[in-house]
Amino acid sequence: MRSSTGLLSLLAGFGLACAHPSRGLIDSELQAKLSTGASISHDASVAPRWSEYGAPHPGTVVSVATEADVQATVQYLVKKNIPFLAQNGGHGWSGAFTLGQNGVLINLRGLNSTTFSADKTQVTIGGGAAIHEVIEQAYANDVQVLTGNCNCVGALGAGLGGGYGNLVGLYGLAIDNYLSFNVVLANGSLVTITPAQEDLWWALRGAGPNFGIVTSAVMKSTPMKQADNTAWTGGLWFTEDKIEKVTQAIEDLKLEAPMNIFLYFLTSNGTPTVLVTVFYFGTEAEGRAAFKSILDIGPYSDTTAVLPQSQWNAGADGFCTKGGRKPTYSAGFNNFVPTTWRQIWNDYNQFLTNPNTSATTVVVECYSLEKTQSFGSDSASFANRDIRFNGFTISWYPDASLDAKAEAFGSGFRDLLRADDGLSSNRTYVNFAFGDEENQEVYNDSTSRLQQLKKKYDPYNVFNQWFDL
Ligand SMILES: Cc1cc2nc3c(=O)[nH]c(=O)nc-3n(C[C@H](O)[C@H](O)[C@H](O)COP(=O)(O)OP(=O)(O)OC[C@H]3O[C@@H](n4cnc5c(N)ncnc54)[C@H](O)[C@@H]3O)c2cc1C
Ligand SMILES: *[C@@H]1O[C@H](CO)[C@@H](O)[C@H](O)[C@H]1NC(C)=O
Ligand SMILES: *[C@@H]1O[C@H](CO)[C@@H](O)[C@H](O)[C@H]1NC(C)=O
Ligand SMILES: *[C@@H]1O[C@H](CO)[C@@H](O)[C@H](O)[C@H]1NC(C)=O
Ligand SMILES: *[C@@H]1O[C@H](CO)[C@@H](O)[C@H](O)[C@H]1NC(C)=O
Ligand SMILES: *[C@@H]1O[C@H](CO)[C@@H](O)[C@H](O)[C@H]1NC(C)=O
Repeated sequence: MRSSTGLLSLLAGFGLACAHPSRGLIDSELQAKLSTGASISHDASVAPRWSEYGAPHPGTVVSVATEADVQATVQYLVKKNIPFLAQNGGHGWSGAFTLGQNGVLINLRGLNSTTFSADKTQVTIGGGAAIHEVIEQAYANDVQVLTGNCNCVGALGAGLGGGYGNLVGLYGLAIDNYLSFNVVLANGSLVTITPAQEDLWWALRGAGPNFGIVTSAVMKSTPMKQADNTAWTGGLWFTEDKIEKVTQAIEDLKLEAPMNIFLYFLTSNGTPTVLVTVFYFGTEAEGRAAFKSILDIGPYSDTTAVLPQSQWNAGADGFCTKGGRKPTYSAGFNNFVPTTWRQIWNDYNQFLTNPNTSATTVVVECYSLEKTQSFGSDSASFANRDIRFNGFTISWYPDASLDAKAEAFGSGFRDLLRADDGLSSNRTYVNFAFGDEENQEVYNDSTSRLQQLKKKYDPYNVFNQWFDL
């Protein structure tokens, strides 16, 4: 890269610019290559993160405005050997980020468009769109789109790792519904990847952040009038003495395509309690019949309702609160063992005796898997289709002095789940993993092919911050 002024040429000549270009150099050289809507800042708070635990601490944030801005930024940073990380919603909770003050965060939030084909059977989602933006646009246009269940999360941030959401039983995962990606690769090209590019098509759907920055994705969507786009969903609240019955009932429940069910340990008005959320894409009567075994246990409160898609995620908005420390440990498992869940409840209550921990939550997500399994385990690099339950615990508190206790609680929770997970090896959904897992645990049988493709498409490993291959 030739700089335009004599001073910069001199610095480059001494190799200084290549080793650690100063912030001023990044500003002047890179800004000149970007669209007028893009901006460069040295205040990381312009792109806030969900958790401060293990978070990247970039010295520079490039907020892009166009797909070409992403390409220009990657080309510049690769040439200058400057480490970087893309950020969409900022919820990635892996504690393994290593981006420090010399690093650049590429803030994709400006790429937040959601557009539809004329017949509404395809949606194009920008690389920075948040789930609530996709849902708002879809609902306003009489379209149903598969998304994750939290409004604040990046639509593609979640989708590239797999993408669970309320409609998985009907459509499969996000990765099962993509049609093409626009992506900036390690070699600096902005290319469109379709099923014809077999290698990258397979790799991006499950390990996307390791192969490029997706600037937009085309996905299947379904034309649907607002009045038809409703589900019976909400909370069934149980006293703690029902834990064994509730966990056994979830274990025994056959999840039909329109259904999913989550289990939470959380606090309500300061008191720990057991919440089961149910979802049925259909009528209340159908939903109550499908979840009869859960209802029969006798919740002390029932806050379910028939809601339009635009409101399905509202109940989880509390989880969207950004900031604070939230180390999150996770494990996949294939059977609920009620005695294990009694132990988890006891450990959870013990952790809550620490000050300012009342937002700490234990969650298990349970989806109907037949549809996603119908696509075949080798159709994408995503490696979690055989896992029935994904459990995680978010320890949530303001002060780093509690980190060691939170790590002990979280890893203890994970040990308990792994101990009787019904699986032949430890397994975790990549987007839920803590960050210390071996590749085999998050990528399972896809690991070796991913590693081969990584050598081919990103030989210098510039995309190295997310379950690095
Ligand atoms: C409150 C909450 C709710 C959640 N709900 C769900 C859910 O319903 N379903 C589900 O499957 N998961 C869910 N998750 C997990 C979620 O999938 C991951 O946290 C995901 O990594 C977050 O994406 P993000 O864009 O918000 O985060 P980011 O931290 O911005 O991104 C995470 C990783 O993906 C990379 N990345 C993001 N966008 C792109 C892109 N366009 N191209 C290339 N790489 C990219 C980033 O570089 C980073 O390495 C949830 C997480 C939280 C905290
Ligand atoms: C996209 O983001 C910009 C600012 O970040 C915001 O003004 C705009 O409303 C967003 N677009 C949509 C569709 O939400
Ligand atoms: C970058 O890699 C892609 C995928 O292999 C290829 O299509 C493209 O031509 C490459 N670009 C350059 C500049 O080599
Ligand atoms: C708990 O948080 C409050 C503010 O909400 C703070 O004043 C207090 O010092 C905190 N206590 C501990 C032990 O961290
Ligand atoms: C699986 O997890 C358990 C409990 O955390 C751990 O002791 C064990 O070493 C792990 N196994 C492998 C193969 O990593
Ligand atoms: C994942 O790996 C396990 C061994 O740990 C294996 O039994 C299983 O079949 C693999 N699953 C898939 C979908 O490849």
